[in-house]
Amino acid sequence: MVNLRFHGHSCWEIEGKSHRLLIDPFITGNQLSDVKADSFKKLDAILITHGHADHVGDSIEIAKNTGALIVSNYEIANYCMKRGCTAHPLHIGGGNTFPFGHVKLTIAHHGSTGPGGEALGNPAGIVLTMDGKKIYHAGDTALFLDMKLIAEMYGPLDVALLPIGDNFTMGIKEAVKATEFLDAKINIPMHYDTFPYIEVDPKDFIEKVEAQSRKAKLVAVGESYSLE
Ligand code: NI
Ligand code: MN
Repeated sequence: MVNLRFHGHSCWEIEGKSHRLLIDPFITGNQLSDVKADSFKKLDAILITHGHADHVGDSIEIAKNTGALIVSNYEIANYCMKRGCTAHPLHIGGGNTFPFGHVKLTIAHHGSTGPGGEALGNPAGIVLTMDGKKIYHAGDTALFLDMKLIAEMYGPLDVALLPIGDNFTMGIKEAVKATEFLDAKINIPMHYDTFPYIEVDPKDFIEKVEAQSRKAKLVAVGESYSLE
């Protein structure tokens, strides 16, 4: 079993049989988050999709507190290493097998400027394979047709975590189309309501996906979804 716990925005805590990961730990400054950055004690890795502050978030502090390995693109890995973290650089299209599982970086159509304006490479999505489960975290992205290629190359996906908040990423219309391209067993919305710009009704996404006979699940902040 792999458990996915939602900490708000695009932050997911992924727990498998013997490893625990965080993706995009934006906690400090996220008023909707259910945790504190210093609450993480045992953590194997932090995966970061792109350089924006609402995704790099508390990565450096948490990595230093826990000894977690940061896995991200080359520029973000270097950025974190310069700040005292251990990191493994990947880049888009590439993957690596780690003790906790396999990480492949996929394309995303978005930006990746760092919290202080640094050039932090290109934005990515992540296909994480852990304990036999395949988890696609889209990062921040527009809809793109190559989501079909992600499904073909790395599927079947057990879950797709998709931004729906519009303004900076896909809105509901595009995210519903993404579920068609990705054909994941279940689709879970993220990256909405954190800021006024991205307030949408996630139930609208759920209803529209289900109307097309695909599965979707609303996971509230602090709640979990288990891949059995
Ligand atoms: Ni972003
Ligand atoms: Mn974002």
